Amino acid sequence: MHALSKIRLVLWLAVAAVVVATAGSIGYRQLERATTEHSGEVPRLGGPFKLVDGDGNEVTDADLHGQPFAVFFGFTNCPDVCPTSLFELSAWIDSLGEDAERMRFAFVSVDPERDTPERMKLYVGSFSDDILPLTGSTEQVQQVIDAYRVYARKVPLEGGDYTMDHSAFIYLMDANGAYHSHITYGEAPDRAVAKLQELIGTSS
Ligand code: NI
Repeated sequence: MHALSKIRLVLWLAVAAVVVATAGSIGYRQLERATTEHSGEVPRLGGPFKLVDGDGNEVTDADLHGQPFAVFFGFTNCPDVCPTSLFELSAWIDSLGEDAERMRFAFVSVDPERDTPERMKLYVGSFSDDILPLTGSTEQVQQVIDAYRVYARKVPLEGGDYTMDHSAFIYLMDANGAYHSHITYGEAPDRAVAKLQELIGTSS
């Protein structure tokens, strides 16, 4: 290989590495922006919402206050990220043992068009009885998506079908419904459980 083509190859690889690194950090930066924009010390993430549980009963943000809670977003047709997250979270809940009763867990649909309360109940219940399934009208779901700065976008598929592209952070909120920390998709189980334990400790 000529010296010049070697330089070109090295340059090209450097550019490719930057592109990959940038793509990977976009998700983090979105969250960082969401969690560092604040007035005073408290990040503005979270807030009022009105949704329905798997039985169609109304659940508001106020219903979750009083105990810390973990909340994350997805949809029942999700091919991999949501089932993985639900599966992992149910394993972490098992690891917490009795401590798990000192906080709450909620999975909110970003696809209210298809995710009826019944469907959410069946789907989330197949992973864990400790995770509260939440959905609502398009407007109600949009409100909670905006409040939690969730990235969620409809992606058309061939044949008129669609899927949802969405962020996969599990937000850990304190007993007042204020952002405390988060768990990233793919986080090591011991780290994730430690974060949940730490959150539970804030309310004792
Ligand atoms: Ni998903």
